[in-house]
Amino acid sequence: MSLLGIRHLPREEIEDYVARARVYQKAAVSGEPVPQIEGSTCLLFFEVSTRTRISFERAARRLGLQCTYIAPSTSSISKGESFRDTVATLDYEGLDCLIIRHPCAGTAHQAAEVFSGTVVNGGDGCHEHPTQALADLMTVLSRKGGTEGLVVAIVGDIVHSRVARSNAWCLTKMGAHVRFVAPATLLPKDPSAFPVEVHDNLAAGLADADVVMALRLQRERMNGSDLGSLTEYTEHFQVNGTSLALAKEDVLVMHPGPMNRGVELDSSAADSPGSTIHEQVENGVYIRMAVLAKEFEKLRGDA
Ligand code: NCD
Repeated sequence: MSLLGIRHLPREEIEDYVARARVYQKAAVSGEPVPQIEGSTCLLFFEVSTRTRISFERAARRLGLQCTYIAPSTSSISKGESFRDTVATLDYEGLDCLIIRHPCAGTAHQAAEVFSGTVVNGGDGCHEHPTQALADLMTVLSRKGGTEGLVVAIVGDIVHSRVARSNAWCLTKMGAHVRFVAPATLLPKDPSAFPVEVHDNLAAGLADADVVMALRLQRERMNGSDLGSLTEYTEHFQVNGTSLALAKEDVLVMHPGPMNRGVELDSSAADSPGSTIHEQVENGVYIRMAVLAKEFEKLRGDA
């Protein structure tokens, strides 16, 4: 039970989430109702969020689940209660599913130790963001028809990115070749811990790529020495018409959002025919429906 990350998920489970999400996508297009689930979810978010929060809320409501949202300023943590005690309280309240977003890596795992229902990781620090990676995978599969042998360049602030980590695990399990492309200060300290190729040069990193995924500079997680100059970063690492010319002609341009136009990518890339930014958001809802439905099946003992 619980979806805490992609790293330890077998490929068959990843494929099962996407297959289920496709059923929800078809139902949304045809207007068919989807089976409703009785139960309660609670979004416990300790970081700001637009798309992930709305996406989980829409997914829960489409499945008929009750859904409450707790922001950091309105939780008892602001009165000094520990994270574990807050989670335990939500357990005593009888909630079935906790969806957690937190600035510290490992908090979703901690919550799962205390909570007797199911926990879904909505992003924990620089660690994992499993539902984003699954939505991105669904997007690549629908545009490219498969992932085997695809070259995927993830470009930008990798060291602070849970999206980069979850995508690296997910896409390599699905047979893609993943590259981390960033200035040396924005690469993980030990890149060999990931199943990826590493480039600190954009031209080499983008050469013949099938997919380019741009990431935001996560200034809220940086310390002073991580980024020399923004102008220099943009000049050397921006995903734009010039840099994309090095990738394959039918390259997909992805971004998990929120994007800073004119920094990690320019408008010609963000609005190009190969851009999948809107699809990633839409697929996020279907994937989160699939994840919630599966978690509730496990919780009720049907899976
Ligand atoms: C990302 C996140 O929060 O990890 N956004 C998202 O959930 N779609 C990336 C980011 O904040 O830059």
